[in-house]
Amino acid sequence: MHMRMKFLVATALLLPAAAFAADLAKGHRVYMQHCANCHGPGGMSVMAGTPNLARQEGLRQPDMMLLQTIKAGRRGQPPFMGILSDPDILDALAYARTLR
Ligand code: HEC
Repeated sequence: MHMRMKFLVATALLLPAAAFAADLAKGHRVYMQHCANCHGPGGMSVMAGTPNLARQEGLRQPDMMLLQTIKAGRRGQPPFMGILSDPDILDALAYARTLR
């Protein structure tokens, strides 16, 4: 019974993430082309004022919030609306979340 409860809770937590299935290979390509010149190829920022994604800086919030910020731009973060599609940005974010 205990194990089964654990399984059900884990499944429930995973369900919202399944709404968007990230393509990490594409995310890697998008990240290298559009994000790495500031955030660094490995997520260690190479530009002053840029969050270290490898330390999860700026990443402790839902992807849908980050998607809006990246589309609209904010201070040193350039706007990507019209440059990258929503799925491309979400894939790049999924890839950025794997960096350590
Ligand atoms: C020209 C440099 C530059 C590029 C290119 C760039 N960023 Fe950023 N990014 C920044 C800076 C600077 C900030 C901090 C913005 C601020 O101070 O509000 C930031 C912030 C962020 C944050 C944190 C947002 C928050 O709410 O704290 C994330 C996540 C992020 N960028 C991801 C990306 C992704 C993904 C890409 C590629 C699609 C990208 N960035 C491209 C410079 C850049």
